[in-house]
Amino acid sequence: MKLRTAILGYGRNGSTMHAGAIANNADAFDLTAVCDTDPARRQQARERFGCTVYADYHEMLSRESLDLVSIVTRSDQHSRMACDCLAAGVNVLVTKPWAVNAAEAERMIAAAAASGRQLLPWLPVRWSTDLRRLRELVTAGTIGNVFLIRRLVACFSRRNDWQTERQYGGGYLLNWGPHIVDSAVLLKAVPVKSVYAAMRQTLNPGDTEDLFLAVFTLADGTLVTAEHTVAIEGLPNWFVQGDQGTIAAYGDRLVIHQHTPAMPDDPTHYPGMKAATGTKTEETIGPHRYGDENAIYAEIAQALRGEKPYPVQPADALGLTRLLDAIRLSSETNRVISLP
Ligand SMILES: NC(=O)c1ccc[n+]([C@@H]2O[C@H](COP(=O)([O-])OP(=O)(O)OC[C@H]3O[C@@H](n4cnc5c(N)ncnc54)[C@H](O)[C@@H]3O)[C@@H](O)[C@H]2O)c1
Repeated sequence: MKLRTAILGYGRNGSTMHAGAIANNADAFDLTAVCDTDPARRQQARERFGCTVYADYHEMLSRESLDLVSIVTRSDQHSRMACDCLAAGVNVLVTKPWAVNAAEAERMIAAAAASGRQLLPWLPVRWSTDLRRLRELVTAGTIGNVFLIRRLVACFSRRNDWQTERQYGGGYLLNWGPHIVDSAVLLKAVPVKSVYAAMRQTLNPGDTEDLFLAVFTLADGTLVTAEHTVAIEGLPNWFVQGDQGTIAAYGDRLVIHQHTPAMPDDPTHYPGMKAATGTKTEETIGPHRYGDENAIYAEIAQALRGEKPYPVQPADALGLTRLLDAIRLSSETNRVISLP
């Protein structure tokens, strides 16, 4: 039996990434319904999939017998819609950011527990090819003990939509934080002890940040920076420093420098430092730097059929939301925020 699925929010992302992945996993999913308040979007969905369309998701929930609703509306709407779907007895997938703060996330988790349905957070970066390859390299000790991780996404661009308004859950912390912060702290998978952060509005209209810069200290002392900024191009997306080398990632290109710093022959003799000997290798990583939506939907199908747990648990997503909240609080109060 195919999973009867609805997309709630058939906009830029819902009509592409999610509709595409559902169509590409047609053996597992049937796109039964689409809900969008925009008549043009409903028309597009009806023509493309021949599905039933709704302007009101409450009506969709009452009329359809659904196995899954994929929520891809504005970020401020996710939590309330997810709670309503769960209360109606339907499993939900919630795009990122699944909530605008931890209180909203906790409400969804409580609603899932009350309904016994699955709450599936969309954190596609956990499937990303660069994070997976970097973890392999770091775990294998390729550059020795890693003490500093810098993660950056930057582009020279402006935007003019709801993502620039805080009341709609806009801003680059919520929009990009789930990709950038999550992957940065996952590379070593050591708990975060504290964060200091700053946010600025530089190029975009509206009333929210388009720049954030967070400096985390992990429990083992590793420093991790996570940054999104507009108005710049060309910097590495990752710069990972170990005591035996560095790894830089520029898009899908990884550059690995391995060094073995030599000790001076006579440590009492100055200047007795010897230059490090080293090698430089390059490799290309796979195309899915922000995750492969087709692979993620295949795992969603397995989770809903009870074959295998979904790899991203609500507790994981709540942990990330707490980090984003701490970044905002640090920026607003100019303080280092400790995390429990
Ligand atoms: N890589 C990713 O995972 C990724 C990429 C892009 C966007 N997103 C996320 O997807 C979400 C949507 O972003 P977008 O760029 O597609 O926005 P969008 O504005 O293009 O789409 C939102 C859609 O929701 C519809 N909508 C609004 N209120 C509604 C309601 N009450 N009922 C039904 N439909 C309603 C709108 O008409 C619109 O078509 C955001 O939370 C964003 O962060 C995730």
